[in-house]
Amino acid sequence: MENINVQIETASIFAGIENLSDQFKKAEKALLELKSRTGPGNDFLGWLSIPDNISKELIRELNLAAGTFKHLDAVVVIGIGGSYLGARAVIDALSHSQLHFVNKNNPTIFYAGQNISEDYLAELIEVLDKLTYGIIVISKSGTTTEPAIAFRILKNHLEKKSGKQEAGKRIIAITSKNHGALKRISTEENYRTFDIPDDVGGRYSVLTPVGLLPIALAGISIDEVIKGAKSMASLCLSDIASEKNPAICYAAIRNALYNSGKKIEILANYSPKLANFAEWWKQLYGESEGKNGFGIFPASILFTTDLHSMGQYIQDGERIIFETVLSVKTSKYKLAIPEDKENYDELNYIAGRRIGEINKMAELGTALAHTDGNVPNIRIEIPELTAFHLGQLIYFFELSCAVSGYMLGVNPFDQPGVEAYKNNMFALLKKPGFEKETAAIYQRIGV
Ligand code: PA5
Repeated sequence: MENINVQIETASIFAGIENLSDQFKKAEKALLELKSRTGPGNDFLGWLSIPDNISKELIRELNLAAGTFKHLDAVVVIGIGGSYLGARAVIDALSHSQLHFVNKNNPTIFYAGQNISEDYLAELIEVLDKLTYGIIVISKSGTTTEPAIAFRILKNHLEKKSGKQEAGKRIIAITSKNHGALKRISTEENYRTFDIPDDVGGRYSVLTPVGLLPIALAGISIDEVIKGAKSMASLCLSDIASEKNPAICYAAIRNALYNSGKKIEILANYSPKLANFAEWWKQLYGESEGKNGFGIFPASILFTTDLHSMGQYIQDGERIIFETVLSVKTSKYKLAIPEDKENYDELNYIAGRRIGEINKMAELGTALAHTDGNVPNIRIEIPELTAFHLGQLIYFFELSCAVSGYMLGVNPFDQPGVEAYKNNMFALLKKPGFEKETAAIYQRIGV
């Protein structure tokens, strides 16, 4: 099977030879630190060896559990951040772009717990009223407010609709083996559970049951996802020359560009199916790197759509951007422009050519224009949108992210900054235990 291919040549020109070669050395050192498990956050490196270590038994259990939900119309995946973005990224990438399913014989997947929108939940319930459904609730800590609220509401709805006993059979919890409120509820209510390993943080957890169960449920081969990840792990963790190691190349070039003043990285897609893959990538890089006043700001763009909205800024605005393009080599379908006798739209010059080919010309034209406009272009070619290649991409991005974090001198496995909003929200909501913070915050806002 052809591998994803990371191309950094055109971007290298912007980084400068010396700077780039320094960053290559730093990336090599960072990778060694990761492999020897001696760097910061080394108690969160379980994801590194998942592709090699995941047991056949777990894969079988996950497929069996997905099978028990197959007769349902729908399943709601409840989770936020690392507890849902990876599954959604893979499922959307392989789903029909209009009908939103991978396999129409599998339940429709809905998502909840990734916001606190009253209308979102109310409208979801409106839809679920008419369907038979199950719930997969995912939270490593088991105490995150957004999924906890969604779970309380939907558990209540499902129990009223199907009876408590049947509801209990239609709920699967994925959480920490030993602690947290979700673990407690699951034990009390006798739910089927899968464990999230203690040494895998949320945004690195897509290859654990967190991502694999929803992915299997959508009708995607999790064996293939793992195979792809495994092939990437063996490529990136072996002793090949650095310039052949995709994870080192990507980490080195983006840090070299960052050093030369490029503070924003845009992950650009030419396939709308990858829009949610970009959301997963943003969380992975944003939460891992944005610390201690450092970090490349990860943004995402959908081309050619956004060339008609953000194109002007990228081409001509402040020169602090570089671009990483996800380019899918082969489309699944073949669709060509028909010849038209009248040719009022003057498109006959491309008649007979495939839409994919035109998209590729748009990509090339954009890359050249952006390069001329001082926007360096990294290109990641994906042979095809398959479970295998998504597995490759996931492992590649996880590993590069960890390497890149070490190069920046931050711990890529914690997220202390996320607590700030939570503490304020808890104080405002007068959560027990936050009495001092509540008094302070109400004084601050003058209420
Ligand atoms: O990467 C992370 O650790 C976070 O994005 C978490 O996944 C997210 O906050 C959800 O946490 P939990 O799974 O504990 O509910």
